[in-house]
Amino acid sequence: MTVTGGKRMQKLSATTVPTPRTVYAARRAQLMRHLGKDGVALIPAAPEVLRNGDSHYPYRPDSDFYYLTGFAEPEAVAALVPGRRGGEYIVFCRPRDPSKEIWTGRRVGPAGVVQHYGADAAYDIARLDELLPELLKNRQRIFFSVGRRAEFDTRVTAWVNGLRAKARAGVHAPREFVDIEHCLHEQRLFKGKHEIATLRRAAQVSALAHVAAMRLCRPGMMEYELEAVFLHYFRRHNCVPSYNPIVGGGANACILHYNENNMPLSDGDLVLIDAGAEAEYYAGDITRTFPVNGRFSAAQREVYQVVLDAQYAAIAKVRPGNHWQDPHDAAVRVLTRGLIELGLLRGKPAQLIKSGAFRTFYMHRTGHWLGMDVHDAGAYKDGDEWRLLRPGMALTVEPGLYISAHIKGVPKRYWDIGIRIEDDVLVTREGCEVMTAEVPKEAAEIEALMAHGR
Ligand code: GLY
Ligand code: MN
Ligand code: MN
Repeated sequence: MTVTGGKRMQKLSATTVPTPRTVYAARRAQLMRHLGKDGVALIPAAPEVLRNGDSHYPYRPDSDFYYLTGFAEPEAVAALVPGRRGGEYIVFCRPRDPSKEIWTGRRVGPAGVVQHYGADAAYDIARLDELLPELLKNRQRIFFSVGRRAEFDTRVTAWVNGLRAKARAGVHAPREFVDIEHCLHEQRLFKGKHEIATLRRAAQVSALAHVAAMRLCRPGMMEYELEAVFLHYFRRHNCVPSYNPIVGGGANACILHYNENNMPLSDGDLVLIDAGAEAEYYAGDITRTFPVNGRFSAAQREVYQVVLDAQYAAIAKVRPGNHWQDPHDAAVRVLTRGLIELGLLRGKPAQLIKSGAFRTFYMHRTGHWLGMDVHDAGAYKDGDEWRLLRPGMALTVEPGLYISAHIKGVPKRYWDIGIRIEDDVLVTREGCEVMTAEVPKEAAEIEALMAHGR
């Protein structure tokens, strides 16, 4: 088994190499083989979302929609109609409108979608209710994300009811609504060459931002000042955060989804940072935990080493043919033995694992699929069995220990130590590649980096 990663990569450029249009066409073709000639798929774009008043959140395309289209505008629907004469790939989108474009930005428009995005035909989204039922006629099955967007569910139902009303005219309405996620997310689970290149870039930008934060950290800084290092680094490299960064000093590290990030960082405390860059809609997701003053205390180092050993043990289980659960089980074994050695648990490891006693200090799982969504699409089980790891899957490995002072019987020296170490890992033919290896995680390496930055 080989674990690769850690080589110095080439200098970071501001942008990725664009994914060729042929890649999106190949994804649609793969999905259409699954739909069959009686099927039709409908994939709506994500809506714009108001943040407050009339201000929107920055627009982020829906991952399924973008994966299949490469098209990043809101107010669009893609339809895939295998074998349809007159075109299998139809897009409804916003029309060009020079006066609106002055206010809200450029639009590709239907003609542009045909010319640049490979659509066989494209229409104004305002004609959706008029034209879409035509695409459903005489098809048996409609594939879409059933139950994800109530408004879209209602619209699909209305289109189908409209066709049912034409039964006496000889029109067959679709009889089955099938959740597209089962097949589409299985497809997204296995990353292709361009996706892997983009994931590596997201991983690398994320990693180098963590390095910058380690270099800059000083006692007395505010958590948000470290968060700012990430935001600055990400934007400089044409990325955005792939989720809200967590910067938790001291006891805040024991709050798993802490993201107020508004407290001072104290001399003698650790800081846990969980932050990742999204590059071209692919997520990085890294956690590092390091001493605010650049030197681990003895107690911090003891706990840190347990988590690091657990992470190494888990990564060693990421290889083709192993189960999804194997890295988690390996991490739990090392963490439980460590908790016994630290005096935080008493008993036999097997018993403490069976009873779940470790969960007082380790209450989450060891990872998740990684891709366009930080918690990416794809099933974790195949029937009743944890699924087997295969080349092209990407996942995180992120064990931790969270020793809140509120837990009864914890010696004072360990109070409020919260540690997580998270890397992004690609399953390869030989084993795995740690895509985020450019940010140190050995305690001595972190100390050396932080001393150097001073
Ligand atoms: N940052 C989210 C996670 O680690 O799962
Ligand atoms: Mn994660
Ligand atoms: Mn994370």
